[in-house]
Order: sequence, then structure tokens, then C-alpha cells
Amino acid sequence: MTRNVVKADAAAIERAAEELRAGALVAFPTETVYGLGADASNPVAVRAVFEAKGRPADHPLIVHLPDATHLHAWTRDVPDGARALARAFWPGPLTLILPRSALAGDAVTGGQDTVGLRVPAHPVARELLAAFARRGGHGVAAPSANRYGHVSPTTAAHVAEDLGDRVALILDGGPCEVGIESTIVAFAGDRPILMRPGGIGVDALARVLGRVPEAARAGAPRASGTHASHYAPRTAAFLVDAALLPIEVQRLVERDEVVAVLARRAQRPPGFDGPWIAAPADADGYARDLYANLRALDAAGADAILIEAPPADPAWLAIGDRLARATHRA
Ligand code: TXA
Ligand code: MG
Repeated sequence: MTRNVVKADAAAIERAAEELRAGALVAFPTETVYGLGADASNPVAVRAVFEAKGRPADHPLIVHLPDATHLHAWTRDVPDGARALARAFWPGPLTLILPRSALAGDAVTGGQDTVGLRVPAHPVARELLAAFARRGGHGVAAPSANRYGHVSPTTAAHVAEDLGDRVALILDGGPCEVGIESTIVAFAGDRPILMRPGGIGVDALARVLGRVPEAARAGAPRASGTHASHYAPRTAAFLVDAALLPIEVQRLVERDEVVAVLARRAQRPPGFDGPWIAAPADADGYARDLYANLRALDAAGADAILIEAPPADPAWLAIGDRLARATHRA
């Protein structure tokens, strides 16, 4: 692991806040995935984030805030639905897309007239954001701390693998609890629109909003994590129907292909002794381990990763979304 990984104790967090104020990049844990942070009101620092990730400059970043009172510095208008969602789910894995204020420049918004805002729940993220605010900072722009298009990081070691010395500091706060990114909700007037399913389920949103958010249409405001291919291991990955998994594994093995499997069951097909991960049976546990599992199978050096399809149940919506993108081929 690179030298810049440090345990996220109080001194390291203060140092990280200093680095951010000085315009440097700091990776930090959130409850969803690790973020690659920069001072959101410093366009030079924000541009360095795009460079470190290899991400196109027109893909907007989420601005992370220490608490909801900071919302008003970044947005001109908060629809009632957004206010209700913020009250119900912040701090937590929810991002709101709102009309931007003058503070939200073109670099962080990718030139959109909206800005993405989130108050994360992870104690290290919250302490870092508070320390940054005490130094006069307004918010920390942070995409997931992976190379563009790759699997998101849920440990400090994952960040080091992808970004290494491209960041000043990687705060190690242990593995992320939620494991997949925040749910993103935008508004068309008062109508809520689901831009990306994530850590907060659609049923939970609907309970607070009194309606199910609409699905985002293609060509709606750009969200890079919503591109068809994303969150992808480097090994070719395929979704396989649960009932067909044993047959498909055996078919490939008979053709002398090396396969690695992300299953939802412990039992392997007879005679198969290759890499096999039995993921947790519940959606929360599956999501928590998902990216670490994909990275582990990627490292097995197989010809293909077979992924047992998730159940068609609303609780698995965000997982199904990530697996579809991880296995998408143009
Ligand atoms: O859980 C998360 O959201 C993590 C942690 C670090 O907070 N962050 C994250 O950031 O997933 P990123 O950049 O990997 O994904 C953010 C998504 C992108 O798809 C981006 O295009 C979209 O949010 N987004 C940000 N601002 C937007 C805006 N103004 N309009 C539309 N989409 C926006
Ligand atoms: Mg990302």
C-alpha cells in the first residue's frame, strides 16, 4: 500500500482539512464508498479531481456538506420535496440535485445549472467536513475515489490501488457500511426524479414524498454513474440467470475457460474448484460486500466473471443497476 494511507484519527483529519484548504486532494471514507475530495469552491483543485480520476470534465461532482444548514450557500431554491428528503435522510446516502447558486461554479457542476449536494453520515467524513468548515471552507467536492468507469472503492486499499500517489492523503476509516453509492434525486419543478438508485431505497423515498419518484430518461441531466458501462471490473463479467448458473459454469470449464463466480449460494457445481464467492443473501449485506467482491474476483486473473443474477425485488434495485453496468458491453 502507498505511504499516503493514514489511519483517520483526529490529527490525520485536521491535517486532511488543511490539505483540502491548500487545494490538495484527499480521499476519505463515507458510509457509501470512499470519496476523492477537493475544495468545491476552488476550480483548480476541482479540475485536479477530474485529472486524477481520468474523468471527462463535463461530468458534475457531488458537493459534500457538514450539515443541512450549509445547503443554502449552494442552491437558489429548495423544493418542498427536497426539503422533506433532506430532513428524513441526512446525514445519509442521499444526494439532491438542486438549482445552483453563484458559489457552485462551472468546474464542480460540469457547466450544468444544477448542483449535487449530500450530507454524508460516516463519522470521519462528518469530522473532516466540520474541520474544513472551521477553516472557512464551504463544501468538499467528491466523486467516488476510483479511476473513471472502474469499480468504486469501499476500503482505503482500493483507493490506493486505483489512485496511489495521485492524492495527497488517503484517510483510512475501515470498510464502508453501505457499500454502494448514494441515491440521487433531482426535481423538475416539484416532480421528484430518480437519477440513480442507491443506498436509500425507492420505497423509503416514496414514503416521505407521498409518491414514487419518476425514472430519469436518457438524455436527462448527465450522471456519469448512469452511463451504460460503469462500475466495471477489468475482466469481462456476465450476468447469469440463477437457474442456469451451474450449467453455464460447467459449459465454460469444459471449453477450458478459467471462470470466477460471484454467486448467492455456497454450493458449487460438482467438480468446479475455481474462485467462487458466496455473497450475503440479504440485499444490504450483498451491497456492502459487492465492490470488494468484484475486485477480488477481478484479481483472480480469470477469463470471465460470472455473476448470479439478483432477485427481481425492489430491495435489489440499486444492486441490479450496478450489476447491469458492470456487465455491460457496448
Ligand atoms: O455515494 C456517493 O454518492 C459517492 C460518495 C463519495 O459521496 N459519490 C459518488 O460520486 O458516487 P460520483 O461522482 O462517482 O457520482 C456522482 C453522480 C455522477 O453520476 C454525477 O454525474 C451525478 O452524480 N451528478 C452530480 N451532480 C449532478 C448534477 N448537477 N446533475 C446531474 N447529475 C449530477
Ligand atoms: Mg463514481
